[in-house]
Amino acid sequence: MNPLELAGARPGPAFTVTFDGRPVEALPGQTVAAALWAAGVTSWRSTRSQGRPRGVFCGIGVCFDCLVTVNGLPNRRACLVPVRPGDVIATQDGTGQEEACHAD
Ligand code: FES
Repeated sequence: MNPLELAGARPGPAFTVTFDGRPVEALPGQTVAAALWAAGVTSWRSTRSQGRPRGVFCGIGVCFDCLVTVNGLPNRRACLVPVRPGDVIATQDGTGQEEACHAD
C-alpha cells in the first residue's frame, strides 16, 4: 500500500472492550495499549517482587513491561496486540495466571 493512500484515512466505528470489568471504548487498528491509554489507563501490570505498577515503556515490543492478560491469556504485550471487539483485558499480577477458559 502506498502511504499516500492513507492520507485523510479515518478509523472505523468504535467498539467496546472491558478492562478489569469496566467498559472501554476502542478503535479499529489500535493496540491494547493505545486503547487503554486513550481511556486514561497507564498501568496494567504489577511487578513480581515488589508489586510496582507497569505499563508501556518502549512501545515497540522489546522491554515486556506492558504485559497484560487478554481474554484469559497472560503475558500479552499490550503495545503489540491489536485490540478486538469484545476483548476482556485484565490487570496482570506478576507472571500472571492463565485462566481455564478464554475467548481465543
Ligand atoms: S512497552 Fe515494551 S514491550 Fe510493550
